Amino acid sequence: MDKLIIEGGRPLVGRVRVSGAKNATLPLMAACLLTGGRNRLRNVPNLRDVGTMAALLRELGAHVDERPGELTIDTARAEGDECPYELVKTMRASVLALGPMVARSGRGRVSLPGGCAIGERPIDQHLKGLEAMGCRIELEGGYVQARAKRLKGAEITFDLITVTGTENIMMAATLAQGRTVLRNAAREPEVVDLAQALNGAGARIEGAGDSIVTIDGVDGLGSIDHAVMPDRIEAGTFMMAAGVTRGELTIENAQMEHLTAVVAKLKEAGLRFQQTPKGLVVSARRAPRPVSVITGPYPGFPTDLQAQFMALMTLCNGSAVIQETIFENRLMHVPELRRLGAEIECGGNTAVVKGVRKLSGAPVMATDLRASACLVLAGLAAGGQTHISRVYHLDRGYERIDQKLINAGATVRRESEPGPGKAH
Ligand code: EPU
Repeated sequence: MDKLIIEGGRPLVGRVRVSGAKNATLPLMAACLLTGGRNRLRNVPNLRDVGTMAALLRELGAHVDERPGELTIDTARAEGDECPYELVKTMRASVLALGPMVARSGRGRVSLPGGCAIGERPIDQHLKGLEAMGCRIELEGGYVQARAKRLKGAEITFDLITVTGTENIMMAATLAQGRTVLRNAAREPEVVDLAQALNGAGARIEGAGDSIVTIDGVDGLGSIDHAVMPDRIEAGTFMMAAGVTRGELTIENAQMEHLTAVVAKLKEAGLRFQQTPKGLVVSARRAPRPVSVITGPYPGFPTDLQAQFMALMTLCNGSAVIQETIFENRLMHVPELRRLGAEIECGGNTAVVKGVRKLSGAPVMATDLRASACLVLAGLAAGGQTHISRVYHLDRGYERIDQKLINAGATVRRESEPGPGKAH
């Protein structure tokens, strides 16, 4: 297990490049199962979760060729129908294979993902969608088993907004007989990226990015050849890194239109943004102003940036209220931030952050991916050394983040520490 040692307290100044989005890559990889052909994905980040999805596709019989920034996924022989517990337990997004498997071959078995560090995360909405399309669903031995001769188009209203649920059903519907209408669909840019890739392969999806998505099923899809969208969460993390260290980062490949809610809050906090030919320059000179946020589905403030925003607010000149509404247990970074000197009171899913003048380095532990990013930001701002253990969480979703930060002037070292490495 690796740990990061950060020598903090200095402004970050330099240039960072945003990689392809993890949460767009994973559904795109699963979508390749629908085509039964040779697909190409470009701008693919080199992440642990991408490696896990590649392992899952191979388990199902696909041939996956991994080259820097690119994946070739041949699913001609991907006739497997089972996503085993061993893989699903390391990555919940494995459930994204269910819709494509059933759509293509009429059956799929996926180990039921358990709860995880940030919440229970059931998949009832995925199953409800498949059932509406004519699937028989059985739960047996910890596995969800879905069967259907051919999926049929259906009208589906999700009870709540679910990103991978929308993606799973949208993928399944591309090969269904007739029209599927999804209501209360997730509007995240990753859903749009997936729809564009599928439409490029001959699918007929309309309305992705709105809460009503219409999919007219086709008999077969051609190949997917698609460049993955830039990672908006990584871009937002770098913006907050500039803010918390009072530095200046030129962020290449940041798509501002995906971060409207975030940029508005950061501007309110006093960060400055300037679009230049070299990239988006984000800078801060003084302590952030206190700004409160409530997380919400897109286009609201993303839950995946809540922890990093809290790191920024630990140093604000006042009090900020941060409310998490998507997951039940996503404030696990709070006790760790306190170890660095932050003053935070929690009640339920609300944190009141009272800004302090400075943070000071300490040993802390990463509990999930975005909490890890939060601790990296706090460590970069804190005086002295911060040791962050269990950074395997970070490696699931941030490509070479230590190297990127070093290039922007951070002092970060990676060390191996003894002990078992188990992912969640
Ligand atoms: N939910 C249900 N039933 C369902 C599906 C979801 O009750 O059938 C609940 C969840 O428990 C949660 C809420 O609905 O409380 C929203 O969950 P959603 O399904 O949208 O989350 P997800 O699709 O499992 C994706 C991202 C997450 C991100 C969330 C919210 C991927 C692979 N993962 O998860 O990313 O936090 O949407 O935006 O796209 C991360 O990257 O760190 C991460 C956790």
